[in-house]
Amino acid sequence: CRVRRYKFDVVMKNTTRLCSTKPIVTVNGRFPGPTLYAREGDTVLVRVVNKVKYNVSIHWHGIRQLRTGWADGPAYITQCPIQPGQNYVYNFTITGQRGTLLWHAHILWLRSTVHGAIVILPKHGVPYPFPTPDKEVVVVLAEWWKSDTEAVINEALKSGLAPNVSDAHTINGHPGVVSNCPSQGGFTLPVESGKTYMLRLINAALNEELFFKIAGHQLTVVEVDALYVKPFKTDTVLIAPGQTTNILVTADKSTGKYLVAASPFMDAPIAVDNRTATATLHYSGTLGSSPTTLTNPPPKNATAVANKFINSLRSLNSEKYPANVPLTIDHNLFFTVGLGVNPCPACKAGNGSRVVASINNVTFVMPTTALLQAHFFNISGVFTSDFPANPQHSFNFTGSGPANLQTSNGTKVYRLKYNSTVQLVMQDTGIVAPENHPVHLHGFNFFVVGRGIGNYNPNTDPQNFNLVDPPERNTVGVPTGGWTAIRFRADNPGVWFMHCHLEVHTTWGLKMAFLVDNGKGPNESLLPPPNDLPKC
Ligand code: C2O
Repeated sequence: CRVRRYKFDVVMKNTTRLCSTKPIVTVNGRFPGPTLYAREGDTVLVRVVNKVKYNVSIHWHGIRQLRTGWADGPAYITQCPIQPGQNYVYNFTITGQRGTLLWHAHILWLRSTVHGAIVILPKHGVPYPFPTPDKEVVVVLAEWWKSDTEAVINEALKSGLAPNVSDAHTINGHPGVVSNCPSQGGFTLPVESGKTYMLRLINAALNEELFFKIAGHQLTVVEVDALYVKPFKTDTVLIAPGQTTNILVTADKSTGKYLVAASPFMDAPIAVDNRTATATLHYSGTLGSSPTTLTNPPPKNATAVANKFINSLRSLNSEKYPANVPLTIDHNLFFTVGLGVNPCPACKAGNGSRVVASINNVTFVMPTTALLQAHFFNISGVFTSDFPANPQHSFNFTGSGPANLQTSNGTKVYRLKYNSTVQLVMQDTGIVAPENHPVHLHGFNFFVVGRGIGNYNPNTDPQNFNLVDPPERNTVGVPTGGWTAIRFRADNPGVWFMHCHLEVHTTWGLKMAFLVDNGKGPNESLLPPPNDLPKC
């Protein structure tokens, strides 16, 4: 094991996409940002230097951060943001994890351009549990706005209405062949006939789940969220914001240029974003650059394609990589997740009301001191520990959503005993589309033991839970008008954010935090904060 040092300079950079140029916030001037490489067991030190006018913080999405919550990154949850001109060293050790994850800004909407890949290689001498690919390629999917994304969300918050959707999706930073700017090329993936490639797919988009497809080629899924799965073949991958998926692709043709497509999945009857980002899988020796073998991505409401993919996922659950699903439950939680409407006299465009979002009808209010600091130093008045274990308004799914859309505001956490086991069922309230909610839990991986459409039935549904080899992840989609059940062990002391990874829903308040108490053993307590922890 070694120490890996990185320097992330947060700087503005003029960037041209869709035939127009704007200054964007970047790390080291790059979009997408640099890939962070490490090996399982390594210690990673990233010095983040803030050279822009915004407050900044960086989250290492999916890194467990065992006892090192101070390095997790969500602003006002585990740290105060790094102010302009300041810097902070994120210091963490990668324990028991290998695979693809992502890092991204975790404040305001800076994630739109401040993101990149984390590649964790297995320990030296430890092979993948599948044939070693000839080459590995990071593929980051994202979105591009022609206008400034901070302005987009601020405008929406003022009006009370939904923000504008992006102008394009991107593959490794480029929209590809798009009609509104045909002259800009897309990303090219060069391949040699007969070789096998592992694509490390990342969805860094703000607000869109995406389908990913390569014309003429089967994809073998081997890992999601840095956890091995039982390999399966598919022609389409579904990937939500915050999720990662490793796929093997064999270049089994002799020649040609094949379209690579990323297009939105929106499981709701609403006209939003329908644009496809394209790239080219290019066999060496083939002339020309644009793809000639095309494919149609699934339409945005292709629920059956999405379900088939989700239902194919299983933990590898081998002797070496067992699925340790908790079989007993200490905390049995039921959370409704969804959108609501609250009064807003100043919101003229919204007719005196604004769209909000909530968990158990609580719209989370961001504190002005980080929750983890308040917890560690016993600062009172920052949060309360009364996050409800069940919804405040009872919920019965009838297809048209709940009658009571009002939410209450609060900075509430739910307390978990160290090493207790948690079952959490999340039910979408399905009132305003689009409402697939890819929910991300910081600090843990969890097992997705069940999923269904309509009302969750606590008496019958658990009988069908997969407690043997359910997929293990850090981000899971709660389906529109349906539910997802997860289980995890609260073995990481600290304060851990949980939120919808559609940034617009997070902004509206679809977020909460778990507070995990210290244990009694010598290695069961949160470590003290580093000296350079930013102050609010
Ligand atoms: Cu990837 Cu709290 O986020």
